[in-house]
Amino acid sequence: MENDSKILDLFKDSGDSTPAAVSGGAKKLRVGFIGTGGIANSHIKAYLQFPDVEIVAGADLVPGKADKFFKGYGLENVKTYTDYKQMIAENKLDAVSVCTYNRQHAAPAMYAMEHGLDVLLEKPMTVTLDEAVELCRVEKKTGRILSIGFQPRFDPNMQMIGKIVKSGVLGRIYYIQTGGGRRRGIPYKRSDSFIRSDTAGIGAVGDIGCYSLDMVLRAIGYPKPLTVSGYTSDYFGKDPGYYDDKPELAGKFGVDDFAAAFIRLEGDIIIDFRISWAMNMNTPGDTIILGTAGGLRIPSTDCWNGSVGGPMKIYTEVAGQETEYTVPIIELKGLGRVERKVRSFLDAVRDRGTAPVPTSDILINQAIISGIVESAKLGREIKIEIPEI
Ligand SMILES: NC(=O)c1ccc[n+]([C@@H]2O[C@H](COP(=O)([O-])OP(=O)(O)OC[C@H]3O[C@@H](n4cnc5c(N)ncnc54)[C@H](O)[C@@H]3O)[C@@H](O)[C@H]2O)c1
Repeated sequence: MENDSKILDLFKDSGDSTPAAVSGGAKKLRVGFIGTGGIANSHIKAYLQFPDVEIVAGADLVPGKADKFFKGYGLENVKTYTDYKQMIAENKLDAVSVCTYNRQHAAPAMYAMEHGLDVLLEKPMTVTLDEAVELCRVEKKTGRILSIGFQPRFDPNMQMIGKIVKSGVLGRIYYIQTGGGRRRGIPYKRSDSFIRSDTAGIGAVGDIGCYSLDMVLRAIGYPKPLTVSGYTSDYFGKDPGYYDDKPELAGKFGVDDFAAAFIRLEGDIIIDFRISWAMNMNTPGDTIILGTAGGLRIPSTDCWNGSVGGPMKIYTEVAGQETEYTVPIIELKGLGRVERKVRSFLDAVRDRGTAPVPTSDILINQAIISGIVESAKLGREIKIEIPEI
């Protein structure tokens, strides 16, 4: 039965939690780019909205690419490089956006921190857990700010999931089904960097799996993961017939296009996970969170990199009656999600605050992703062990 009781007041949110106001008169933060491919566009569009930012320099491995990128935004005076180390040596920067493909996340981010810069690093944090641990140790040693590019965290509907859990309406959480994904959505049209092992290292499991894991793990406070039994496959990616006009890409495909896993967390919580870039199904299902007092259904989206797929629903019992509440969609006001991801990073840099998307959470996310990949390779359940940072 549908019910519009006062309980819904618990789930109201203005959606207007814009990060600290931008002061036009403040000293400008000098920002550089490492990697000027696809995602760098959304970073630069965000930076350009903020008057306290000066985009000073950019590096991309491909000669001429960085230059073309900045000129495309009318920025004629940005210094460009093919070597990010030279860029860092020759420019006094405060911060960099690291927008390289996955295999090139850790090295430039660590180098930048070691040279006194704060870093906004794209997701997934790294490819392997070892790299992530090394990265977090450099962050700790240098005391720099390292924030990871999970923009869904800035969506008020995503934030509502945590608020619902914390309200206690679900009781004790014991089972979560999450993931989602696409029927035909291997990202290859713009560049092959997502599908090659030497550039991406991991496929759907890291690219969009990191979002659905973050959505639920953040809501329940990122409990320690204990074990994982993972599975990955590449049937679509390795099929030349998949790529209409570029069958040769099948030979380059070196990552997963589907993954599933059963993950045990501390506190006797289970995550049943599946994620897909391609499959013969419209969706592997909504995210559901089961608790002793209530259940939450979060309608699936293609990749969870924005918001929820529709109004969420709470299933509970009131006075012995099976009762359902619909949680209204919250409209995002003010800055968009990516702008908030960038602005909150800039605010932390300016105020010497803490990273808005902290590695303490995302290290756990990465440990699970790496665990899925390793367990799939071994064909058995493995323990997840995260070394001390
Ligand atoms: N947050 C999001 O919504 C989102 C969306 C898309 C991609 N991403 C992430 O962003 C990253 C990049 O994705 P993309 O679509 O921009 O890929 P891309 O291949 O279009 O761009 C990556 C660029 O990095 C450059 N590069 C790689 N290594 C470098 C190095 N050492 N020094 C300088 N330049 C280097 C490449 O030449 C390329 O131009 C990926 O990790 C991806 O997961 C995030």
